[in-house]
Amino acid sequence: MPYFCYIVECADGSFYTGWTLDPARREQQHNAGTGATYTRLHRPVHLVYIEEVSDRSAAMKREVAIKRMDHTRKQSLIRKAEGNHPLNTHPTPTLTVLSPARVNLLGEHVDYNEGLVLPAAIDRYVTIKASPSSDQTISLHALDLKASCQFSLDSLEQKKDIEGADLPVWAQYPAGVAWVFMNHGLEIRGVDVEYFSTIPMGSGLSSSAAVEVGFAVMWQALAGWKLDRLTLAQFCQEAENRYVGVNCGLMDQFACANGVKDHAVLLDTRTLESTPVPLPEDAAIVIADSGVRRVLSDSSYNERRSDCETAVRLVKPGYPGIRSLRDVTPTQLDASKDLLPAVVYKRARHVVTEVARVQEALGRLQNNDARGFGELMLETHASLRDDYEVSTPELDALVEIAMELPGCLGARLTGAGFGGCTVNLVQNRNVPGFIRKLKKSYLARTGKKAEVFACHATQGAIVK
Ligand code: GLA
Repeated sequence: MPYFCYIVECADGSFYTGWTLDPARREQQHNAGTGATYTRLHRPVHLVYIEEVSDRSAAMKREVAIKRMDHTRKQSLIRKAEGNHPLNTHPTPTLTVLSPARVNLLGEHVDYNEGLVLPAAIDRYVTIKASPSSDQTISLHALDLKASCQFSLDSLEQKKDIEGADLPVWAQYPAGVAWVFMNHGLEIRGVDVEYFSTIPMGSGLSSSAAVEVGFAVMWQALAGWKLDRLTLAQFCQEAENRYVGVNCGLMDQFACANGVKDHAVLLDTRTLESTPVPLPEDAAIVIADSGVRRVLSDSSYNERRSDCETAVRLVKPGYPGIRSLRDVTPTQLDASKDLLPAVVYKRARHVVTEVARVQEALGRLQNNDARGFGELMLETHASLRDDYEVSTPELDALVEIAMELPGCLGARLTGAGFGGCTVNLVQNRNVPGFIRKLKKSYLARTGKKAEVFACHATQGAIVK
């Protein structure tokens, strides 16, 4: 039976060494968080070195020897072995891109109403390893999905793979980005890409925006263009709107591209001005994944957006200066109530009050008033639940349980809703107990398992 010593490279560039009978399975375990404490805290990891040894005892000895090497010696060991090991089926990547998830703290469903949003990029990533090819073929290997797909840059418009089958939805995000770049006259190269995501899909943490932005940064780096990050985010939004068919706003792509370490980023979706906003010092951001998944291209999201457009159309005759719901005050909306279908009125009320809540929240953050900020998060949740109707019983349960726990300052669903995650603001000293108790009570109340984890605000996508 063959034994192997292996090295994985962690998200922060550090190395972890171990031994195993099955390196590929071991890599998956590390990425699933069940491999080792160190790798769980430094995901995603990527297998960079495998050495076959004769038996178990030799494997253990070699592991110790490699662990004693300093970083530079490990790097040269990896470089020497590149191309030799049995799992190296793809060309040596020339470029690695790390693209983060995002959590939105406040300002939900206002980015397509020209409102203010307050997202942060967080330390869950899509890691992309790219090797340019000499032809027009894009080969995608989505390792976490265990799926591959090949398509040609010459047939992006048709949304078909090289065998003529429909492109699967997961492949449409990279394909859409390529399509937008080419429509803007930018030259794209064929590329062989392996990528791996630790951002749960359909969970409200923008796994698709992270993929789009990651690929945009990759193609920019391969081609050497110098587009600014706002433009890259806008191109990615265009890919999602026009190629994938989801009428999303700019928030997600903006956050994945422009995150700032230890900060949220305030984006004015009308002027496109942005400002980093420091997060409260004594509180942590904790995410709770309800385990319920949504498909954003479901008509519900697009319906909400068109309800907002209807509201503007019906309110505007009384107030001609209005361009979007951002301009409508609560008083104006109330005065127009009889003109609006009941559902449209409720949708508009969410947006109008949410725009005001973000303004209020900024003052509270400036005063380091985490408790006051948390109160606004709760108000947002109620508004999303009752007026915008995008919550689920599971998300409501997570918020209700969270607010009963010591140290919880605020809780709300984050992202589009219809399933996915809540975001919680929790006093630092209470975080471990909060995580434990929230999981336990959620399981008892719903019979479902929640993944609950603290996260850190991080920078936008980078080339490593
Ligand atoms: C999704 C969209 C964003 C935004 C949020 C809701 O994440 O992609 O543009 O509209 O929903 O705030």
